Amino acid sequence: MKKLVITGGAGFIGSHVVRLFVNKYPDYQIYNLDALTYAGNLANNEDVASAPNYHFIKADITDAEHIDALFAEHQFDGVLHLAAESHVDRSITDPLAFVRTNVIGTVNLLQAAKKHWAGKMEGKRFYHISTDEVYGELHDPKEFFLETTSYDPRSPYSASKASSDHFVRAYHETYGLPTVITNCSNNYGPNHFPEKLIPLMIHNIIHHKPLPVYGKGENVRDWLFVIDHARAIDTVFHDGKIGETYNIGGFNEWKNIDLVHLLCKIMDEKLGRPAGTSVQLITYVTDRAGHDLRYAIDANKIMKELGWEPSLQFAEGLEKTVNWYLENEKWLNDVTSGDYQKYYEKNYAGR
Ligand code: NAD
Ligand code: TYD
Repeated sequence: MKKLVITGGAGFIGSHVVRLFVNKYPDYQIYNLDALTYAGNLANNEDVASAPNYHFIKADITDAEHIDALFAEHQFDGVLHLAAESHVDRSITDPLAFVRTNVIGTVNLLQAAKKHWAGKMEGKRFYHISTDEVYGELHDPKEFFLETTSYDPRSPYSASKASSDHFVRAYHETYGLPTVITNCSNNYGPNHFPEKLIPLMIHNIIHHKPLPVYGKGENVRDWLFVIDHARAIDTVFHDGKIGETYNIGGFNEWKNIDLVHLLCKIMDEKLGRPAGTSVQLITYVTDRAGHDLRYAIDANKIMKELGWEPSLQFAEGLEKTVNWYLENEKWLNDVTSGDYQKYYEKNYAGR
């Protein structure tokens, strides 16, 4: 397998996947295909940008003709599809943007793969990266999401991801496209856009701003370090069985309010502030509409069948994450001011 296209490679998880593949597989040509929306940031790829096997393509997956032309030009052997609108709160205010990118964009990629791989599916692979949110919410503390759990999406974001998962399965069943899907729990780590819980709290603590906790802060999320997700993606891309689904998670559930308290404690220590300073910034705000109560992944299938397991304990991962944000103040300032969006014009436009 030689030419891989990674969609959404300038985003949070995609940039870690791009880095891992560019460095680990020098004989692969890696094409990072990204529209550079507000969430796409080429500074995330700076360290691999001059590698001979790295290529950047600015393209929007909702543009079917462009996607088709790119498949014709590059003859990709594999697709790792991460491009998406990814924030639940944004999906509540603008659901159609999620339909366009997550549903139509995914179908455009499936169409291009089906057309250009026709009669030569051997060795090809279409890997769709999805979320545990497609399974809905859990109430019974003894229950976990399994690969066999019925889909029950409740937000426009999870509905759009569920729809894209269904299309990927449909292309496998109907056209024999060699697909694989993973559904992962909440990620955290470096390069996470500060609209999501952990980086938003880190950013606000640094700047002494209120820490908005939705509702009573009792919702539970299951957190996985982003590099462990990227390692799982590498494992599934190479060893996962065609047509299968694998859930990815680290058995690491946290109530939001407990996690925010922990972040306050770590940040006070790191910033040399007296213990108890940052918790005073916690502000309970109106709950998110349709807020899913609990997500929790049973990751036994990928662990037992493919031998993947998380490499980091949460305490270690959070420490690395906090350190990264403190050491990358410019990154944080650029994304919060919008300055990072000038990066493409300065470094890539006209190439
Ligand atoms: P992100 O929002 O950080 O990045 C998304 C990337 O996709 C950005 O670089 C953006 O520019 C690009 N993009 C958006 N619309 C595009 C379009 N129309 N055409 C081309 N590129 C476009 O997202 P993320 O958190 O890195 O998530 C990546 C994938 O992983 C998504 O599919 C998401 O559903 C899935 N996922 C995320 C999490 C999580 O906790 N963040 C957990 C499980 C699964
Ligand atoms: P988020 O990071 O948006 O991920 P997701 O909604 O996809 O799980 O939110 C994680 C949890 O944190 C979720 O229960 C909503 C909550 N939350 C807050 O309480 N305050 C915030 O400012 C944000 C962004 C999220």
